[in-house]
Amino acid sequence: MNSLIKKSLSLVLKTTSLVLRESIELLTNIASINDFIRTGYLDYIPRPDDIFIVSYPRSGTTWMQMILYQLSTEGKMDFSHISEVCPWFDRMLSFNIMDGDDLENLPSPRIFKSHLPYKQIPRGPCKYIYIARDGKDVAVSYFHFYTSHLNFTGSFSEFFENYFMRGKVQYGSWFQHVAEWKKHQKDPDVLFIHYEDLVNDLETTLKRIIHFCEFDVPQERIPEIMERCRFQFMKKYENKFDHISAVIWEKGYKQNAFIRKGKSGSGREYLNDEQEKIFAKELNKMNINLDMTF
Ligand code: A3P
Repeated sequence: MNSLIKKSLSLVLKTTSLVLRESIELLTNIASINDFIRTGYLDYIPRPDDIFIVSYPRSGTTWMQMILYQLSTEGKMDFSHISEVCPWFDRMLSFNIMDGDDLENLPSPRIFKSHLPYKQIPRGPCKYIYIARDGKDVAVSYFHFYTSHLNFTGSFSEFFENYFMRGKVQYGSWFQHVAEWKKHQKDPDVLFIHYEDLVNDLETTLKRIIHFCEFDVPQERIPEIMERCRFQFMKKYENKFDHISAVIWEKGYKQNAFIRKGKSGSGREYLNDEQEKIFAKELNKMNINLDMTF
């Protein structure tokens, strides 16, 4: 069998396994974090210039992937999907999409996306950029994601009260995720960024990222990078960011719902007074203060 056929077969197998996994998630509707993390990361050998973009889902992870891709390369849009240039670490190994050799062959600096909690992220030496977003906005965005991508048919209230607030969603409790990572926000290998910082002042936040990653980016490239990281630009190239919806489009899933709105504050529009109270109570209990003013 020639190598091209072998490669194509392996790609088909990998894609099929990915779609099968997605379908299982659709059937069970709500997957727990352990469904995502099957194996240890024995194949991963850290490099000091590796960068992990870490977040709870729907916190601006894909945006940060694009930012780091733009900052660390010439930023050409000739990749077929962002995972190609910035792999989703948790799934690459668990679902056999990449093995240790593939990881080793990636050029430095390797940039990975991950939603792993602090305790489960592979230990460096490397760098971690954690993105935190207002939890109520995350709940709303996650609700839309579950509706558009995971076949959830309930109301926002049902999602919020029965699933989100109980941590019965992929990657578990937002509160726990953020609280654990926040304890490490001052670690020298961690940069803690708010989604809202990116929305409110992209340029300053880019500079913080450049400084932390020790990138050498000429000032004259900044306007182009900012332009490419804008919501409208990414929306235009949405199929390069939302792989799954493209692959399974035939099965009736909605496209163009992944890079959704890109605004802060929908949490306030969606949550009623009672839900605000439940949220605030949990925030208080977990002692999370993101120092945000809305
Ligand atoms: P909304 O659903 O509120 O619009 P993640 O990549 O972690 O899943 O996060 C997805 C959220 O980030 C979505 O939020 C999406 O629209 C938003 N997002 C993605 N790219 C963005 C950009 N360039 N500017 C602002 N928001 C962006």
